[in-house]
Amino acid sequence: MDNFNFYSPTEFVFGRDREDECGELCKKYGAKKVLVHYGGGSAVKSGLIARITASLDKAGIEHTELGGVKPNPRDTLVYEGIELCRKQDIDFILAVGGGSVADSSKAIASGVCYDGDFWDLYCGKAQIQKALPVGVVLTIAAAGSEGSSSSVITKEEGRLKRGTHSDLIRPKFSILDPQLTCTLPAYQTACGATDIMAHVFERYFTNTPEVEITDRLCEAVLLTVIKEAPRAVKEPDNYDARANIMWAATVAHNDIVGVGRSQDWNSHGIEHELSGLYDVAHGAGLAVVMPAWMEFVYKHDVMRFCQMATRVFGCEMNFGDPEKTALEGIRCFRRFLHEIGMPINFEELGAKREDIPTLANNMAIKYTTRGFVKLSRDDVCSILEIAADAKL
Ligand code: NZQ
Ligand code: ZN
Repeated sequence: MDNFNFYSPTEFVFGRDREDECGELCKKYGAKKVLVHYGGGSAVKSGLIARITASLDKAGIEHTELGGVKPNPRDTLVYEGIELCRKQDIDFILAVGGGSVADSSKAIASGVCYDGDFWDLYCGKAQIQKALPVGVVLTIAAAGSEGSSSSVITKEEGRLKRGTHSDLIRPKFSILDPQLTCTLPAYQTACGATDIMAHVFERYFTNTPEVEITDRLCEAVLLTVIKEAPRAVKEPDNYDARANIMWAATVAHNDIVGVGRSQDWNSHGIEHELSGLYDVAHGAGLAVVMPAWMEFVYKHDVMRFCQMATRVFGCEMNFGDPEKTALEGIRCFRRFLHEIGMPINFEELGAKREDIPTLANNMAIKYTTRGFVKLSRDDVCSILEIAADAKL
């Protein structure tokens, strides 16, 4: 195991109706004037925004609202949010929604404190040095932004999706009420489950030896999602399934399952090009990319893929031909994704084979030098070719 620091300073507030405490939580973290940032309508329709503002009023905290965050959040709304915060002396951002709203909130929080174009912080030109505090009321278990140090934003012009990292944008608190996720459509539930699994796999496929504790934590999260996601898809109001998935999402991405080991993240790098270009859901893009990536790299460490196959998907170990076991594990993963309603190839996702060179060019600029297996531009093309034609 490698040396590591684990820093997860977020206060997680979990359970039924806990969002009613958000006013007091904002006060605890020093808020005087809050920007309530939310998405395209689900949180208004469910009455959640009204409850949040009532809780802020009760705590005597001023607030302004800014809705309209789209999935794959855009730079244009971030600019609007930054201007609004500066004009109104906002000192705290409260994200009410999913990963997109949380990421847009983190971008506004860091952009307000940056003397320049906030995109500099996303394109690698500058590092985040300061940010307003952010709190989250989560409505979808998926991206893990509620406990992560990252944020991903799409630049409308050129449709480039880019991310940034800093402990300064980790939320001060995140309220996780599983009841809020019961209104999620089956497709979004499944996209979330896929993203959770992908966050674990990005860490599971490592070149660091002797990492039993994090291997086992990873496997626990994966087994939980495999058990609970189909339940939540079939029974949207099942609190216990929702609750287990919600905590799985946070644990999968606050890095407790990934410390002390090298990580990959190339499937995410490739997927961000797909959701940037086609505006598809991040989880759906991962369902197409990640099994294809696995098929491309499994020979690098066949036994690690056998470990996944046997411990996570219950495959029988073929000692005479371990490659067969490794491939069977990958097949089980793809079958699981299909069964919960995810696309498994380009056609089902709405991606185009002729775009592969463009996707690979954009991806190659960022990611070729790291990961479980280092990828060249041609490797990225090969992975996308596998993804384009994937079958069960
Ligand atoms: O906008 P509304 O109307 O709220 O609808 C949303 C949206 O259409 C809907 N939704 C959310 N909660 C709901 C609901 N509908 C009904 N009931 C509810 N309770 O779900 C749709 C998707 O929401 P979104 O926030 O986009 O989903 P998710 O949490 O999957 O976030 C995806 C974004 O996070 C990024 C992704 O790239 C993508 O842009 N990621 C962020 C990460 C991070 N910051 O650490 C890591 C991830 O790997 C990921 O890249
Ligand atoms: Zn993800």
